[in-house]
Amino acid sequence: MKTKSFAPSTVFAVLAVFLFVLSGPMGAQARESAFRQQFTEAKQQNNFAGMKFLVKENGAIIPAEIERIMAEANAGGVSAGERIYLLGLAYQLAKMHTEWNGADDKRMLELEAMLGQYRREAAARQAIRDRIKEVEIVPGNFVMNAHAKEMENAGLKPVIYPHWVHRSFFRCKVCHESLVIMRRGANGLSHEKIDAGELCGACHNGEISFDTTAEANCPRCHLFGSPRAHGLVDLSYYDEAKFTETATRLGGKWHGDRLVDGRFPLSKLGFINWVKLDELGAFEPLSSLGGGSTTEGIRDTKILFLMPKKYASMLDNVLWSHKIHTTWINCSICHESAGQRERIFEKKAGATRVSMIEIKEGKSCGTCHDRVSFHVSDCKRCHNHKGVEADEKTIVRESIEAPSTDVAPAGETRPKTPGIFKSSY
Ligand code: HEC
Ligand code: HEC
Ligand code: HEC
Ligand code: HEC
Ligand code: HEC
Ligand code: HEC
Repeated sequence: MKTKSFAPSTVFAVLAVFLFVLSGPMGAQARESAFRQQFTEAKQQNNFAGMKFLVKENGAIIPAEIERIMAEANAGGVSAGERIYLLGLAYQLAKMHTEWNGADDKRMLELEAMLGQYRREAAARQAIRDRIKEVEIVPGNFVMNAHAKEMENAGLKPVIYPHWVHRSFFRCKVCHESLVIMRRGANGLSHEKIDAGELCGACHNGEISFDTTAEANCPRCHLFGSPRAHGLVDLSYYDEAKFTETATRLGGKWHGDRLVDGRFPLSKLGFINWVKLDELGAFEPLSSLGGGSTTEGIRDTKILFLMPKKYASMLDNVLWSHKIHTTWINCSICHESAGQRERIFEKKAGATRVSMIEIKEGKSCGTCHDRVSFHVSDCKRCHNHKGVEADEKTIVRESIEAPSTDVAPAGETRPKTPGIFKSSY
């Protein structure tokens, strides 16, 4: 009996909430946005007379409309660009309301100041992003700025970590992962750790390389935005005598004479081609620091990734070398998970699906390629093998289809091919 007497009131309550939602804020918003829509349209058409007419006609609702736009602009999750657009709209309304309806100019001046402030902040952020991009265009150049405030307070610029300088002397194995987890931001980089001999401090201790406590050395790492940062982008940091001295000090070797014209071999895209550098025998990077780090050996097999049938006629297959990879990288990086990193590949041929979408998202092969190793847009360096012939060291694998969870439910359409790749190949 109880349930029966409750049922109608519950239904009513639900209905009431539903009606309230419909007629309340949404109704008002619908009315208001009719004005806003007309105004925006007139604005887009540069229809000044139309705007003036609308502002005069709707004087009574304009203050509320301005408040609503401002609230929308300052709500969480609104992008900087959207915020500036909305505040710009509110400002324009306030200005016209002042001019044509004789409203006081308090709101208008407030909005003008607010907008100016946001615009300056956005321009500054954009300028920093552009400068970071200029430095990070080189694969493996990382700008480190997690402690932006502390560095600014100490009068120091953000740090640049250049993988390429370090790769000239050390294989990846030296750092990954006995010293550094192979994920940006995962190491809690700070001087507390560094000056205690961890992370950068395992080498930047005055013995293996320059230390982090002498004043003169601060700008050698804290150099983002200074003129000397260019050397890490345009390779002018390279100096044969200096590289020979460093390699010798470390117990490795640098054979500058094997470089053609004394220059690093470059890829099609203009970045260092490390595979060529190895082939030239121009360097002998260390695989461990003294007895400190471990290396897990080199595996000399290859995997031939066959293209899915529908691409087979347009795209070469991918012949992948364990040897090239394990010369640089420990097995555990690809075949085991670690604290903050998932396992990348099963230790079994044909077991792990690989797809361009994942690679582009920075997973699978994209864990390294596009970040530290050559770019994904360099298609032919991976799609390097015509046909299916293979030697006895090569395991041939068919493409693995997407799991069924990736398949769009009936009625939904999802693009079958990643369109971005079609035009660039
Ligand atoms: C001298 C030490 C050192 C060497 C050698 C080194 N790395 Fe790194 N690596 C780092 C540091 C430092 C980071 C940044 C970690 C952080 O932000 O906490 C990093 C980060 C990475 C990342 C993460 C990128 C991202 O976007 O999350 C990848 C991938 C990587 N390294 C790959 C490599 C590869 C491949 C090699 C060898 C070709 C290599 N590293 C050699 C020190 C090194
Ligand atoms: C495995 C050892 C090792 C680790 C770890 C290491 N470095 Fe280096 N770093 C070197 C060596 C060697 C050089 C070459 C300079 C020299 O000693 O002659 C160098 C050079 C540099 C340079 C070039 C600037 C110059 O004036 O020569 C920068 C910048 C730099 N390291 C930053 C870092 C940062 C930041 C970290 C930590 C995130 C780090 N390094 C971790 C060994 C290391
Ligand atoms: C080998 C490279 C290196 C050298 C040399 C170096 N730093 Fe740093 N420093 C770093 C790195 C890496 C960070 C962390 C950057 C980040 O916030 O992502 C850092 C961060 C800082 C910070 C902010 C966070 C913290 O841990 O305090 C201050 C302040 C700082 N450094 C001061 C200095 C001073 C002063 C010197 C010279 C006496 C110096 N650094 C030399 C690499 C270096
Ligand atoms: C850069 C990543 C990477 C590294 C480093 C790596 N592997 Fe692999 N490994 C792969 C990939 C990719 C496959 C193929 C997976 C597939 O087909 O599903 C594979 C497959 C294998 C297989 C099965 C095929 C074969 O070669 O017999 C074994 C075994 C294996 N790896 C062992 C190792 C060992 C041992 C090391 C270290 C010496 C190592 N791997 C280092 C990526 C790597
Ligand atoms: C853990 C990092 C890492 C992963 C994961 C990785 N690579 Fe690499 N790869 C490297 C490094 C380092 C090199 C040496 C060249 C360079 O750094 O540019 C390399 C070189 C290569 C080369 C040799 C290019 C040449 O000029 O001969 C090919 C091809 C390649 N990778 C394809 C792949 C494919 C395909 C996958 C995924 C199945 C993959 N890599 C996964 C780090 C990685
Ligand atoms: C780092 C190596 C690497 C690079 C660079 C690369 N690919 Fe791939 N690509 C692969 C591998 C490995 C597969 C095989 C996946 C499989 O087993 O089906 C693949 C598969 C594909 C496929 C089949 C469908 C799919 O998404 O898996 C297309 C299409 C493709 N690549 C296009 C391109 C184009 C276009 C470029 C250049 C913009 C490019 N690839 C660059 C490694 C690479």
